[in-house]
Amino acid sequence: MARNSIGVVFGETGSLEFKFAVADSQAVKRSDYVKVWHESDGWVLAQIVSITKSSDAYSLNGAISATDGAKIYDTDEKIVAKANVIGSRDRQGLLRSPKTPFSPGDNVYEADKEMIGSVLGIGHDGAYIGLLEGCDVAVYLDVDKLVRTHCSILARTGSGKSYTTGVIIEELLEHDVPLLIIDPHGEYVSLKYLNSDRKQQSLMARFGINPRGYGSQVTVYTPASLTLNPDADKVFRLDEINLSAMDLAQMLPGDLTNTQMGVLYQAINKAKDKKELYTIDDIIGAIANSKSGAKWGVISALEALRETAILSSNPTTIDELIQKGSASVIDMKGVVPELQGIIVARLCMDLFEERKRGKIPPAMLIVEEAHRFCPERGYSKAASTDILRTIASEGRKFGLGLLVVSQRPARIDKNVLSQCNTQIIMKVTNPNDLRAIGKSIEGFSSELEEEVKRLPPGVALLVNNDIERPVLVDIRVRKSQHGSSESPGIIGATHRGSTCDTEKKSANDTFFRKVFGGENR
Ligand SMILES: Nc1ncnc2c1ncn2[C@@H]1O[C@H](COP(=O)(O)OP(=O)(O)OP(=O)(O)O)[C@@H](O)[C@H]1O
Ligand SMILES: [Mg+2]
Repeated sequence: MARNSIGVVFGETGSLEFKFAVADSQAVKRSDYVKVWHESDGWVLAQIVSITKSSDAYSLNGAISATDGAKIYDTDEKIVAKANVIGSRDRQGLLRSPKTPFSPGDNVYEADKEMIGSVLGIGHDGAYIGLLEGCDVAVYLDVDKLVRTHCSILARTGSGKSYTTGVIIEELLEHDVPLLIIDPHGEYVSLKYLNSDRKQQSLMARFGINPRGYGSQVTVYTPASLTLNPDADKVFRLDEINLSAMDLAQMLPGDLTNTQMGVLYQAINKAKDKKELYTIDDIIGAIANSKSGAKWGVISALEALRETAILSSNPTTIDELIQKGSASVIDMKGVVPELQGIIVARLCMDLFEERKRGKIPPAMLIVEEAHRFCPERGYSKAASTDILRTIASEGRKFGLGLLVVSQRPARIDKNVLSQCNTQIIMKVTNPNDLRAIGKSIEGFSSELEEEVKRLPPGVALLVNNDIERPVLVDIRVRKSQHGSSESPGIIGATHRGSTCDTEKKSANDTFFRKVFGGENR
């Protein structure tokens, strides 16, 4: 065997796979990358898909006699690895795979990092998300493509979805991409603070990173109030001026009947006649004068919406939320789910419109717990489903990216999921969720499914068009603190500017709960 060789090709070989005899069982493991010289293609990259050991001494009869205490010391062990060919890059940088078989007797070598990176297409720069599992090659995602072609992060609970999302947010912030983060649990407030976890800090050298907080780039908004959510910097409000009947209908729970819609239209026309800038109070006032018996249902729904205090004549503008190099976190802590859906729906509609008109720069919308905001039909309903579906299918045309995060892939609208060109899958075991993932990823084989069931925390299967085949990535540690809903320590700078409506009533209101029938689900 040649120097540094880890094995020799033997038996029947093909151009897409081969077997090789391994000299040292410690030298190779499953999913390692190897290279072999091919007579016409030069060095070709392959990946070990299985390793088997066999022994003539421990044939069935040998093993039976060993159970009687007769030990066999010379085990005559043979180690055989099977490798699947990935290919090589030609002069134009295109991936080619050999057209003729490898030759028995060829030496197999450990592949070098540079070759692995270039053949797989895991990039040289962009969003650095971690290291290729087992060989410490840095994995980058193309930032531009990530934003243009959407991304999903899917895994069962506790497998590292939010952590990985945090890593991507850090990278996007460092690449100046404006971010809008829908954060149902207040987990992303901690982006402001540097990662002070000793254990995680000890892993930073391996990933070549340093701790840092993003305090000057992150602003946290609360749709509730600063009293209820002291971690927030500002309150978030929707515009209450000159709402149309359709705008309002979208914000109300359930559907209004035709008669109720008629009452609403009439009232809005009257309010318009009276004032150039009318508010929800003016509409309610106009409905009160209506003679229709259908008015009471409309009034109580509008009052419930008003009572949430989410509408304001001093609203949060999309311009303010979407700015280069900064992230706006909408921290939904303390807001009932129905109101969360309404906020996300309205916000995303405005975001999409503003981006279509070119009023804001290209941006990325990040939706945690996406199964709540764009649920698959039959599971539940959310006011935000339609607009998220539209952003998933049309956002790329306008430079509006979507990153959806969920522990229940089967429960997310499949149209949204299938539009995500980059998939980051961590451990999933639920058969329905695995099926949903299988449907949204081309070539999701039963081997990959088995791999996904066994992934350790922090390791992800990465699939996207730039990468030749799904790869396992050891997601890097966070530079900033990983969030919990607790208030983080005072590490790193933060600004705590207050704004309008601090004294207004909480958006998480029992009246809204009563009318909208919402308990936390
Ligand atoms: N790449 C990683 N490096 C180090 N630790 C990690 C990594 N990924 C996850 N962890 C650890 O795993 C824990 C769970 O991760 P995370 O909170 O992201 O899970 P999750 O999938 O979002 O769970 P949930 O469904 O409950 O929201 C984290 O608190 C963190 O300590
Ligand atoms: Mg999470």
